[in-house]
Amino acid sequence: MYIVLEGIDGAGKSTQIELLGQWLIANGFDVEIVEEPTDSDIGRLIRKFLQDEDATSDYMQKTLGLLFAADRVLLMNKINKFKEENKVIISDRSFYSSLAYQDPKKWIAELNKYAKIPDLVILLDLDLKTSVNRSGETDEFENEEFLHHVKENYLELAKKYDNFKVIDGNNGINMVSKDIKKEVAPLVGICLSSIIK
Ligand code: TYD
Repeated sequence: MYIVLEGIDGAGKSTQIELLGQWLIANGFDVEIVEEPTDSDIGRLIRKFLQDEDATSDYMQKTLGLLFAADRVLLMNKINKFKEENKVIISDRSFYSSLAYQDPKKWIAELNKYAKIPDLVILLDLDLKTSVNRSGETDEFENEEFLHHVKENYLELAKKYDNFKVIDGNNGINMVSKDIKKEVAPLVGICLSSIIK
């Protein structure tokens, strides 16, 4: 099982991944948590590029698109192994992030043609103001205008792909966590009544 959390910066993905992971472990599952960009050499290079003042420009977006795709190929090798071991993989981001953040879209889709399709994508949808306040502008993508465009792209993706579930990320941590569990439970065979408690 390959479950992905997506959303604009500051959506609370990491907190929710932690809570989801703990809950799955408590229910007897073997869980692996991964994230994109990864901690590979390519991932480190990506984080450096994200600080560049030109990060949202056309040439940098293309460069980042290539780097994210390469970083993902390395990660997919690990994910395939985890899948063979029947683990539940929870990932902070996936190729859908590239489709939401990078341009040009057709080319980015082509680059990611062989990326693994998640069984479930939880899109944490968040107000832009909250996003910018929470993320505190640590990289060049964390500005309101750019994130507005990314948020719209995510909502388009959610309309287009059946594996997406949109969850309101503006609610408190516990409410969001419950909403996520409600989507994951039927997929892994956990009884829904255990979440309502
Ligand atoms: P990170 O510090 O991990 O942010 P977050 O904790 O919000 O995930 O940096 C990841 C940044 O990279 C984030 O702004 C989203 C962006 N990104 C892309 O633009 N394309 C991609 O394919 C991925 C995976 C991330």
